Amino acid sequence: MNAIKVLLIGAHGRTGRLIARRLHDEALPFRAMLRRSAHKSEFSAMGAEIVLGDLNYDFSHAFDDITHVIYAAGSSDNEGIQEERAIDRDAVMRTADYAKRRRVRQIVTISALSAYYPERAGFALRHYARMKREADAYVTRRGVPYAILRPGPLSDDAPRGTIALADERTHPLAKISRGDIAHLTVRCIALTIGNQVIGVIGGDVPIETFNSLQPADTRRRFQ
Ligand SMILES: NC(=O)c1ccc[n+]([C@@H]2O[C@H](COP(=O)([O-])OP(=O)(O)OC[C@H]3O[C@@H](n4cnc5c(N)ncnc54)[C@H](OP(=O)(O)O)[C@@H]3O)[C@@H](O)[C@H]2O)c1
Repeated sequence: MNAIKVLLIGAHGRTGRLIARRLHDEALPFRAMLRRSAHKSEFSAMGAEIVLGDLNYDFSHAFDDITHVIYAAGSSDNEGIQEERAIDRDAVMRTADYAKRRRVRQIVTISALSAYYPERAGFALRHYARMKREADAYVTRRGVPYAILRPGPLSDDAPRGTIALADERTHPLAKISRGDIAHLTVRCIALTIGNQVIGVIGGDVPIETFNSLQPADTRRRFQ
């Protein structure tokens, strides 16, 4: 693989921190995007570059010299529809725009399983699911190779190193640990997964055995 540098957006989040740790452990150079300078030291200690940025504003400066981008940010629980629109949709779309402009080689975003079927999500999740779906659809059209991960419910349990693929028909939804999502996210970069939407829940299939995750381009889901 040619030299890579990953921009990690949402690095200080619960999943983001685990992705940072994994990038570090796999010796993949990365730049952590943070909102607060108080959070810098944890990432500097891993040898990461730091860039400050707020997803509510222009953050295109974070993309200088970047080859890959991971979007692991998300709206905070109970912050409401404005935050969901801004962070779960609009900032993802801008990430894809900036990535396209800078000829980034791959974008990996963390969406949600409910984006397969927003209208079936419970009332509290429906708007969030719609925003995720609209963001996903935009990313698939933007012309940057993408891997969109759609996890079911996340947990902070210890990672198992195993998952199961899932889609709109999957029921029940086993929780998946943030550590396993971090593992899968970095594996998408290592495998240069391109143009796939990957639904995922807890399961027994070793992540390391996935080589291409799903057949075929999944763009049809958005037509
Ligand atoms: N919770 C679930 O069960 C579930 C299920 C499926 C998918 N997901 C998705 O998985 C992803 C990771 O979830 P998580 O629970 O690990 O995330 P999290 O801990 O809530 O972290 C979210 C991150 O987003 C950052 N962020 C929010 N607004 C921002 C802004 N305006 N500017 C810059 N950064 C901002 C936060 O920054 P600060 O650290 O500065 O606050 C934080 O680092 C999210 O996209 C989420 O929607 C979650």
